[in-house]
Amino acid sequence: MTDTKKSIHGEWSSRFAFILAATGSAVGLGNIWKFPYITGENGGGAFVIVYLLCVLLIGIPIMMAETMLGRRSRQNPINTMVTLADEAGADKNWHYLGWMGVIAGFLILSYYSVIAGWASAYVLKALTGSFFGADAITIKGLFDHFMASPVQLTFWHSLFMLATMLIVVRGVNTGLEKAVRFLMPSLFVLLILMVAYAMTFDEYYDQGIKFLFTPDFSKLTANGVLTAMGHAFFTLSLGMGAIMIYGSYLPKDVSIAKTVYLIAGTDTVVALLAGIAIFPIVFAAGLEPASGPGLIFQTLPIAFGNMTGGWLFGILFFVMLVFAALSSSISLIEPAVAWLVENKDMSRQQACIWSGLITWLLGLGTIFSFNVWSGFKVFDRTIFQLLDYLTANLMLPIGGFCIAVFAGWIMKRQHTEHELDMPDALSYQVWRFLICYVSPTAVFFVFLHVVGVL
Ligand code: PHE
Repeated sequence: MTDTKKSIHGEWSSRFAFILAATGSAVGLGNIWKFPYITGENGGGAFVIVYLLCVLLIGIPIMMAETMLGRRSRQNPINTMVTLADEAGADKNWHYLGWMGVIAGFLILSYYSVIAGWASAYVLKALTGSFFGADAITIKGLFDHFMASPVQLTFWHSLFMLATMLIVVRGVNTGLEKAVRFLMPSLFVLLILMVAYAMTFDEYYDQGIKFLFTPDFSKLTANGVLTAMGHAFFTLSLGMGAIMIYGSYLPKDVSIAKTVYLIAGTDTVVALLAGIAIFPIVFAAGLEPASGPGLIFQTLPIAFGNMTGGWLFGILFFVMLVFAALSSSISLIEPAVAWLVENKDMSRQQACIWSGLITWLLGLGTIFSFNVWSGFKVFDRTIFQLLDYLTANLMLPIGGFCIAVFAGWIMKRQHTEHELDMPDALSYQVWRFLICYVSPTAVFFVFLHVVGVL
């Protein structure tokens, strides 16, 4: 493999562009919508600690491995696995890993787009003053009413899918850069503002902080541990090829390690800020932390409805959330689109239409699971819960496990060493130890724990 090889889809203009795009992929609904509600469902502090440990010991080394794999091959995840397995003299079957990633991307985007649709609808609700002076009961009523309407949910889901595909069709490394450059810092500022507002709740603020950061391990179940680990993958966009495909557009001279620390660090801080902003409101409004996927939609509007300048902040907040979701959704579908273009001889446009249509259709299942099909359960889960469990808790960790094994045990040591180009020998040793032993074993033990063997 020569050092001059580039992806046929283009290349990021700089290291900064990659950081923006990968951070855009990582920071999204996972941080602001999902992290608070699964933390609430799993008892708080202990769950947060397991999640942080997973980011550090499993997420970061695997993120480096995934970026490296992509950059070395400069192709979509499926072809990457074929090429690199070939280079290492390994079995052809490794391409199934790429396949699983592409399928996981479709499945995740199908429900991701529905939730992003909720956020888009809330922009309009904020704009028309629906939250003004409202209390917890009114806000919950508003949310329940919205959930009960398949037509409205479908409308917003369609709009979001359309926006996603319109960006993807132009190629992720053109328009995206500019948008994320401005949006990330703005989202950050708004979150800090929300945290400042949460601080005015005094004892409820303390209660929120205590809930998030004081671990009570008796509240953590085996499934909670799995959810925490799965979320480390989900929030960092790992295990399905999104980071791999972004890595394939990464210029040669960029340090993967430093870049990954920055992305993972930002992602974690955003999630924690969201938690700190939300839980004080949850307690002040007398809501259940375990209220489920509606949590942020039932809490933040109360704040926007009652704080000074809340009208404007409400609009800005949901706009940011939609953009954060967009910069993630495009990375969910990009591996599939790149594969269709590279292997099926489709134009980018055709590839977008097909993959967009399939995802949109799949999304209807999630929509109905909040209303007309809410009673339809498989393994005691609605379609949405099933899709979420299957992807975040199973497919991404399995994908990540295989990436770790591939990078640590299958690829030639000199290749990974050369490609990662760590600042010193010790950093490489640490990475190698984590990727060969710690990350795969940790994933494996969590699975054993869930099936009750451990
Ligand atoms: N990381 C994104 C988020 O937190 C979701 C995502 C998962 C994106 C997997 C790409 C791949 O919202």
